[in-house]
Amino acid sequence: MKKIIAMILAAMLAFAGVSAVAESLTMCTNVAFPPYEFYGDDGQPTGIDVEIAKAIAAKLGYELEVVDIEFAQCIPGVQSGKYDFSAAGMTVTEERKQMVQFTDTYATGIQSVIVPEACEFEGLDDFVEENGSVKVGVQMATTGDLYTTWDYEDEGKGTVERYASGAAAVQALLAGKVDCVVIDNEPAKNFVSQNEGLKILDTAYAEEEYAMAFAKDSPIYDDFNAALAELIEDGTVKGIIDTFIPAN
Ligand code: ARG
Repeated sequence: MKKIIAMILAAMLAFAGVSAVAESLTMCTNVAFPPYEFYGDDGQPTGIDVEIAKAIAAKLGYELEVVDIEFAQCIPGVQSGKYDFSAAGMTVTEERKQMVQFTDTYATGIQSVIVPEACEFEGLDDFVEENGSVKVGVQMATTGDLYTTWDYEDEGKGTVERYASGAAAVQALLAGKVDCVVIDNEPAKNFVSQNEGLKILDTAYAEEEYAMAFAKDSPIYDDFNAALAELIEDGTVKGIIDTFIPAN
């Protein structure tokens, strides 16, 4: 009897030991970008990216660890191998493709312009025409930053204020420090619904595709992307997106 109990105990310990060291995949992102990543009521990161990544990790037998860093650090962090991948509502661009490899696309976005509700302008060019220049708030290193830098700052038509998060850029707009914020449309809708006195203008830039980013020599890229493709195929990804973007 004692022997049996000892054996059961040993088995339990071994099992506990194994599960305690269950390998995890680390995902880096910037968690102030609802509905793609935000802190849920339980204080844990959730959102479209987090839940899709969790489903992929589970399918591959890994735990998922989400690390909240600056968006600008996501690509360098993946390139250096510090994180296994980045899922951050990240737009696929030619420049980024030189640095990382992207999974299949799992969502699309458009850059939107958030302005105070009383604003009568229809787009960034109206600010330039009426006021001589425009002061744009963006999240640093995002496509909103890149596009407005090229089209307004580099052209001498305005300045771009770069914030650590989209949420911080919106706070700057509420405080009157910038004329508008250029950011992806779904986060824009979230920020406008969560804050009084803001509205969204018609989009300034064309549709973008979101994908997750891996180091070019990542050993798990192929398995991960295959699992993502299956979850897109079987409707899991759409189900997750519909949970976070109702009436999509
Ligand atoms: N789609 C934009 C880009 O790729 C913004 C992404 C910002 N993501 C975030 N998690 N804050 O540049």
